[in-house]
Amino acid sequence: MPVRHFLTLLDLTAAELDGLIARAIELKGRLRQGRDGGLMRNRTLGMVFEKSSTRTRVSFEAGMAQLGGHALFLSPRDTQLGRGEPIEDTARVLSRMVDLVMIRTFEHEKLERFAAFSTVPVINGLTDRFHPCQLLADMQTYVEHRGAIRGATVAWIGDGNNMCHSYINAARQFDFRLRIACPEGYDPEPDIVAAAGDRVEILRDPLAAAEGAQLVVTDVWASMGQEEEQRLRAEAFAPYQVNTRVMAAADPEALFMHCLPAHRGEEVSAEVLEGPQSVVWDEAENRLHAQKALMEFLLLQ
Ligand code: CP
Ligand code: NVA
Repeated sequence: MPVRHFLTLLDLTAAELDGLIARAIELKGRLRQGRDGGLMRNRTLGMVFEKSSTRTRVSFEAGMAQLGGHALFLSPRDTQLGRGEPIEDTARVLSRMVDLVMIRTFEHEKLERFAAFSTVPVINGLTDRFHPCQLLADMQTYVEHRGAIRGATVAWIGDGNNMCHSYINAARQFDFRLRIACPEGYDPEPDIVAAAGDRVEILRDPLAAAEGAQLVVTDVWASMGQEEEQRLRAEAFAPYQVNTRVMAAADPEALFMHCLPAHRGEEVSAEVLEGPQSVVWDEAENRLHAQKALMEFLLLQ
């Protein structure tokens, strides 16, 4: 059987994704009962980080430890990747030594090149274009709090970035309606939007996007690698803060999510982030459970 990768949410079928979320919830329960088992005994995960991370690193590393396996943290600063060894060579070497690779990098194409040369499954731990692992955690969190997301309306308020692109793919795979509110010039990539058909709509008014939504989501205005645009972006995005006005436009039962790290007073007010509709801490925790289910799916299916 050819090796399966997880570079975007489209690499799994909708049924496989549903199964994975159910398994993540099950693994969470098993961990709470101390019945995690040794599913990954003698398995090694290589983790290549070309950008900073707290949640992704800790969730993969702790998850692997809980399942009886091992995770290796590899950064360009202290591997030959940082000294120009081609990604294709690194892929062939790593996949002869480890069972699974996770990569966080800049260009999505670099991840695709790695995967093309890897003989073991490759997981996207975030690229400039997509962040699919975060969506597994977000979908798990929604299911735990509200049940199936099929048919719901989700409002994405902010940048048309990697997280927004993954929400667009999630709208296709989990079958929900997505309203995106972003300032002109910061739209998601048109090919990704077009592929989602009429499930996705782009608006300029955050209140109109949030109206009646069951889930409101945002993310930082300047992603990793865009630090020098911070000031310009803060101006463009100022009307797009998720605050109590925006949440009041949504369904009274709406949840608020943010992949974190968050900037209080910028893309989200402290009141909303710390408020009763916010499920960001569950969302962060679920990175652990969802990725354990993902690793199990890719290695042991
Ligand atoms: N949400 C997320 O991916 O967080 P980190 O950058 O801390 O991994
Ligand atoms: N859009 C953000 C997500 C961080 C988890 C970034 O790429 O920096």
